[in-house]
Amino acid sequence: MRKTIIAGNWKMNKTVSETKEFLNELLPMIKDVNANVIIATPFTSLTVASELTKNSIVKIAAQNMGNRLKGAYTGEISPLMLKDIDVNYVIIGHSERREYYGDTDFHVNEKVKLALETKLIPILCIGEKLEEREANETKNVVKTQIVEGLKDVSKEDAKNVVIAYEPVWAIGTGKTATPEMAQDVHKYIRDLLADMYGQEVSDEISILYGGSMKPENVVELLNESDIDGGLIGGASLEAKSFAKLIEAGK
Ligand code: G3P
Repeated sequence: MRKTIIAGNWKMNKTVSETKEFLNELLPMIKDVNANVIIATPFTSLTVASELTKNSIVKIAAQNMGNRLKGAYTGEISPLMLKDIDVNYVIIGHSERREYYGDTDFHVNEKVKLALETKLIPILCIGEKLEEREANETKNVVKTQIVEGLKDVSKEDAKNVVIAYEPVWAIGTGKTATPEMAQDVHKYIRDLLADMYGQEVSDEISILYGGSMKPENVVELLNESDIDGGLIGGASLEAKSFAKLIEAGK
């Protein structure tokens, strides 16, 4: 059975000391909660976050990774380096990486396969831009991102992939998709995964929603049958707010 996951994506926020401060505030708040929680810190905080969360329900994610294991790739971070510091998950293909740093579906696919090969759990991000939604292209865009992003990924490996549907027009804008809009696309993704891998595997894959998820709207979103959690930016940066989201996702 798939897991409900509450994942925070800090993006380019929090120094090491701010990471320590945040976790020292959050961890006592959730010590008696049974939930699946992920926090994606900047690379510089992964080690301290991994150490501080070792005996908690929180797992650690990187926000990106290189598409090679080692070698002359200046500035890149190998998945082996992430495994070495007990990182469990890695966000791949976030819309901000696609938009600002040129990540294509091809790069995303390379990274997804390499993450699976090194036993990291990829969180594959997909989602349409406003102009694509307005052109009624949402499902075509999402289909391409899923099919290309998961190219050559086996049925067995697909069970270890997390999908995050993040309509770009809802990210950081406060314009959350309505539960009905989000469920419509999540159901489409579920059906597409069933076509690709069979219903049993599709039903095991967690599909998270991302795009202005907050304590005020989390319950109605999680009530939708194919929304299996959230990938949260802004509302994950404050411990009290993130604790409320975790409570809703337990
Ligand atoms: O990866 C999650 C992020 O893109 C959503 O950001 O601030 O709209 O929750 P936010």
